[in-house]
Amino acid sequence: MSLIYLDYNATTPIDVAVSSAMIPYMTQHFGNPSSSHHYGTITKKAVTRSRIQVSQLLNCHPDEVIFTSGGTESNNYAIKNALLNSSDRIIHCITSRVEHPSVMEVFKFLEQRYSRVRVTYCGVDENGTIRLDEFKNALSRETLLVSVMHSNNEVGTLQPIREIGKLIRSFEKENQMERNSIILHTDAAQKDITPVHLLSVCTHKFYGPKGVGALFIRRNCGIQLEKQVHGASVHERGYRSGTENVILVVGLGKACEQCLIHMVDRVEHMFTTREKLYNGLLNNLSNIVQIKLNGHPEKRLPNTLNISFAGIEANTILDDLSQHIAASAGSACHSSSHEEGAEKKIVISQILAEMGVDVNIAMGTIRFSTGLLLTNDEVESAIHHVTDTISKL
Ligand SMILES: Cc1ncc(COP(=O)(O)O)c(C=O)c1O
Repeated sequence: MSLIYLDYNATTPIDVAVSSAMIPYMTQHFGNPSSSHHYGTITKKAVTRSRIQVSQLLNCHPDEVIFTSGGTESNNYAIKNALLNSSDRIIHCITSRVEHPSVMEVFKFLEQRYSRVRVTYCGVDENGTIRLDEFKNALSRETLLVSVMHSNNEVGTLQPIREIGKLIRSFEKENQMERNSIILHTDAAQKDITPVHLLSVCTHKFYGPKGVGALFIRRNCGIQLEKQVHGASVHERGYRSGTENVILVVGLGKACEQCLIHMVDRVEHMFTTREKLYNGLLNNLSNIVQIKLNGHPEKRLPNTLNISFAGIEANTILDDLSQHIAASAGSACHSSSHEEGAEKKIVISQILAEMGVDVNIAMGTIRFSTGLLLTNDEVESAIHHVTDTISKL
């Protein structure tokens, strides 16, 4: 069976250049980077090189990069620390209603645990873009942290991070607040740090290994981070103790390097395969079923095709396709109880609900996401299989 992988937003395979760079650190170079002898020097150099590779992708200083276990840890670390180090009586934060759980759940936890933490959750428009008018109105002299994702993992909409940065700056000016009084964090970005103070990197989304990531912390912006893990002060400038996972860190660095070198070609490939898939499905199916594209028509990740087939249940589509295509559902159908004949309830993803997509349309939502290993032949084959499935359901 050759299964066509169309779920690159869930995770990506490790690039060959990345795995090749990691292998010597599994087989030969095992030294502890803190050791001063030859073995340690080799792995220490590798960790240093990786930090430089990350900083080159983000266009920042290597000292501004801390390695973590992935996007989830980076988000937890950034948000919890930015807030809890403050001695303010009231701590106000702004985020959107469509963040990844590794952001959303942190805010919910902090709100419940600490009565001084108040969070404003801004809504999104029908394209999934944060409502800037709501955001602007939410800014207050008590706002300490703003966390808005760079791009949505489900529908691909790119959030206006630069505009958000500008709104924050002008609010600070108008209110004679010091610059950087309001900290801006963004999640899941691999580029473009310009207006942000904190940025989380999630390596397995761009052909690096899982279980490793990074947090960018802007220098001299007044952020006082606490230690994430206590222990020896030699690791990660004392913020996150523990012997470095050299193998994964090397993979992270190499993935960043490859991303920087091949960015333009990768974007082109992801975009053309996505558009070919979309146009093929529209051509074959728009007479049979209503198809709705979810997410911003243009300001969207180049690889993300989130579409709804009205009136058909998403998991029924994916089950029928399971021998041919791997993709993700944007909704799920649950029974209200285990009893036979129990009423079925459609649960649609948070972002589709926030975008106001009608439940009869949203119920048939599939996220196809393209990536490096996808060939044009596979796209043609995918069009054929999806057409077959939808035509008979
Ligand atoms: C937008 C976004 N943020 C954060 C994460 C979490 O990253 P990790 O899997 O590295 O913990 C993911 C991963 O699914 C994601 O899509």
